[in-house]
Amino acid sequence: MPRKLLVTNALPYANGDIHLGHLVGYIQADIWVRYQRMRGNTVHYVCADDTHGTPIMLRAEKEGISPEALIARVHGEHLRDFTDFGVAFDNYHSTHSDENRAYAEDIYGRLQAAGMIDTRAIEQYYDPVKQMFLPDRFIKGECPKCGAADQYGDNCEVCGAAYAPTELKNPYSAVSGAKPELRTSEHFFFRLSDERAVAFLREWTRGTNEAGARRLQPEAANKMREWLGEVDENKLSDWDISRDAPYFGFEIPGAPGKYFYVWLDAPIGYLASFRNLVERRGGIDLESYTDAARAGEAGTEMVHFIGKDILYFHALFWPAMLHFAGYRTPSQLAVNGFLTVDGAKMSKSRGTFITARSYVTQGLNPEWLRYYFASKSNGTMEDVDLNLDDMIAKVNSDLVGKFVNIASRCAGFIGKRFDGKLGETDAAAVAEFRAALEAGTIARAYEERDFGRALREIMRLADIANQYVNDHKPWELARQDGQDAALHTVCTTALTQFRDLALYLKPVLPALAAQVEAFLRVAPLEWPLEWAPLPAGHAIAGYKHLMTRIERKQVDALLEANRESLAPAAADAKAASSQQRHAEKQQHEAQAAETAMPHISIDDFVKVDLRVARIVAAEHVEGADKLIRLSLDIGETENGQARTRQVFAGIKSAYDPAALVGRLTVMVANLAPRKMKFGLSEGMVLAASDESGANAGLYILSPDSGATPGMRVK
Ligand code: MSP
Ligand code: ZN
Repeated sequence: MPRKLLVTNALPYANGDIHLGHLVGYIQADIWVRYQRMRGNTVHYVCADDTHGTPIMLRAEKEGISPEALIARVHGEHLRDFTDFGVAFDNYHSTHSDENRAYAEDIYGRLQAAGMIDTRAIEQYYDPVKQMFLPDRFIKGECPKCGAADQYGDNCEVCGAAYAPTELKNPYSAVSGAKPELRTSEHFFFRLSDERAVAFLREWTRGTNEAGARRLQPEAANKMREWLGEVDENKLSDWDISRDAPYFGFEIPGAPGKYFYVWLDAPIGYLASFRNLVERRGGIDLESYTDAARAGEAGTEMVHFIGKDILYFHALFWPAMLHFAGYRTPSQLAVNGFLTVDGAKMSKSRGTFITARSYVTQGLNPEWLRYYFASKSNGTMEDVDLNLDDMIAKVNSDLVGKFVNIASRCAGFIGKRFDGKLGETDAAAVAEFRAALEAGTIARAYEERDFGRALREIMRLADIANQYVNDHKPWELARQDGQDAALHTVCTTALTQFRDLALYLKPVLPALAAQVEAFLRVAPLEWPLEWAPLPAGHAIAGYKHLMTRIERKQVDALLEANRESLAPAAADAKAASSQQRHAEKQQHEAQAAETAMPHISIDDFVKVDLRVARIVAAEHVEGADKLIRLSLDIGETENGQARTRQVFAGIKSAYDPAALVGRLTVMVANLAPRKMKFGLSEGMVLAASDESGANAGLYILSPDSGATPGMRVK
């Protein structure tokens, strides 16, 4: 039975540019959707702009345009960015739409009827000049813990403390500069602390989707246990879902001057975008996807792709809202980690806050990024590092050096020597290739969103195909007399293998796959393939180069182009995306608590000889379940020969050895060598960890690009 999937991506805020960080989750979802479709499943893939809230209202005001004009412009920009990166939504809608208003009112009405809405008066800061209540992010002042100036109303960027805006010293409005006053206003709350909600969420969290897979990744399920508390305690608090005018959003029915908080109608935008699609396209049974009573029997699924910072909204508020309003709840959340560039948070001064637009206008190929992100995606919530040198190396070696290379070494002969027509296939070679093929493994990896594993498997096959070409050397056959038939067979066989590889790469590289289909003159590749070799006599199109190599200078130009631009827009986007990020606050607290260590003198510090090291080899250690054996180059030589250090690092839980090779990191070079069961350990590599906190895991350090092995770190 084909699956029936409604797949969504988080709705980007309508006041900022799409950057490479956003693209991680959109590219992952798009790959998954394309894979599902190739398998014959029905997928409706929707997204929209998230248009409401104070930051967008103020941004429009600053630009001297209406919010409607701002969101219309940004809608066009976002859609173009996604399209250029091959992210092909069936519908890209807006939360400022009739469908969304209708759904929001309906869901709110049903929640009221179910007794899930409370009314309460609360005290909040009010800007007397601007005449509006201020969201936490628009109040600044001195940190109540460390006294740092100009900190936001929710947490301190200097010491990491989290607090309420009323705790700030000398608060001022970030909008007008005025001193805010406390005022009382009536708000509506969704009763998340209601025992029915808690019981429902405990159940929902543990569930599986319609295909039997876990609804939440293990790390997300852990977070849920933390948020939900142990069996008898209840840690959830009610959720304030209303805001006072002036506000850009939907006015709440029966409550003049009160608006739905942006995060209430944002996820409802998934349904609105879907309804808009159904109305435009027809032929889809909408309620079988949205109605709780219908969805079960219809076997439809709803899968949300989101970033880890918005898990709280999607794993608590959203399913509870849907459930108590009689709507179907999500089948699965696919949560991605955050993007870092060269091991660091994206930074405007370094030029690593790279917009999608600049990437395209600088002439970089979007499929390079799709391939690289896919190779780094493993279906977990771990952060994803865009290491620019690694991306260049991987794209050039895998895509150009391995995949495209097969065709470029063989296609020319078919055109020049055989009038563009294929010959016989080498049955033994094809049988060997197909025996090595683990289509089931590749399929499972795609299904589990472990795209890195799928690509490793595909590249293993590409190696086999290349080996076949190396062994039979068509360029030599072409120079020998009487070898025409052999040349014809070798090239045809290699191209059949090339076609098979293109099939498996197609979810990741749709544009390249389309070029291959055109070049081989074959119908769109489907999965499973009714396998047959490319037939003898079949005429292919002339070979045109399929993909160029990335040059470091293109990447440098991209960084340069992003270095100065963008500052104001990014600051606004930050304000918007920081609203109510409970999860992050908790993390800040945990990290701040850990920083308290006794002082040391500089003399103590310089005793530690820290060096930049290149990992030249990494492998599992037989019999050790935590260790990876690393060979580290720190620029040392012995008798004129390069010498590497052997270090056993307890990082196996977090790293695949293959992914470490070639990376730069930092090692302690003067740690006394230690004899271990497995051999001598001659130093230590540095890694960050936070076993207790939100980001449990291990993160080895990386220097910025440009550092070379042996450099002293001090
Ligand atoms: N508008 C909300 C989502 C509402 S969904 C009903 C929002 N918008 S956002 O523009 O800030 O982010 C859009 C998506 O991009 C989110 O899934 C977010 O987690 C993701 N990312 C934003 N920055 C990111 C990185 N640096 N790295 C990875 N994902 C990132 O949140
Ligand atoms: Zn502070």
